[in-house]
Amino acid sequence: MLGFTFLRFDTVSSTNDVARELAVAGEAEGVCVIAREQTAGRGRQGRSWSSPPGEGLYLSLILRPPVSAVDSTPITLAAAVAVAETLRLEFHTNADIKWPNDVLVNGRKICGILVEAAIEGKRIQYAVMGIGVNIAQPAFPQQIDNIATSLFLETGRTVQPEEFAEAMLPRIQHWYETGISQAARLIARWEELSSTAHGCPVSIESADGSVEGTTRGLTATGALIVETSTGERREIVSGEVRVRGAAITERFTGSAQPEKE
Ligand code: BTN
Repeated sequence: MLGFTFLRFDTVSSTNDVARELAVAGEAEGVCVIAREQTAGRGRQGRSWSSPPGEGLYLSLILRPPVSAVDSTPITLAAAVAVAETLRLEFHTNADIKWPNDVLVNGRKICGILVEAAIEGKRIQYAVMGIGVNIAQPAFPQQIDNIATSLFLETGRTVQPEEFAEAMLPRIQHWYETGISQAARLIARWEELSSTAHGCPVSIESADGSVEGTTRGLTATGALIVETSTGERREIVSGEVRVRGAAITERFTGSAQPEKE
């Protein structure tokens, strides 16, 4: 069972870097690096992650999942499910997940997740699950002003980043363990929390080119199924999803209820 040990820092380049160094040095699963500020916070696809002091949760968790690299996608989905559930159930926002791992509120991104793993042979030696949640930002830099939001902007509440982490971590534990033992249950919950998982017109840019079509849920391994206009079903394993047409807020239909047992 996953237990947590906390290592708190004031300023780091990136909590993912600190966690990776600790993992390489042999630190155990469950070590959780939290910083008040990141000077070089990074996101997916080489982007940076705005990390002003005290305004966001910047957290990286060392994991040593007992699964092969090909079965690792559900682990990354666990983080998005945990964050979306926390936002919905504890903070009463209409959080929504966009594949693979963006958490949005009212169509704007509130959380990004960056999982970086070291593979040895077919197995995962360690994975670092990096989670950035915009908590207290009253505004964002102009370049991301129309696509980012924070818990403060959505709820008017003043929440400490660590308070959010406390509410989120038990859910990370639950969904990480579920992802390992019952991936289908995690995937079903992911789909339930995503308004764009089924029947959503999307275009996707990936290393293999671009695909346009309609979403048809996730595969058993967490790939996004997209049906093209010719009826072909493509399984997307990486890339950037753009929703075509209606904004995500208008598509939101998900319930803010706890998982049905
Ligand atoms: C994304 O959506 O592009 C992913 C953003 C991930 C940001 C978090 S903040 C904590 C951890 N440290 C980093 O440098 N990145 C992740």
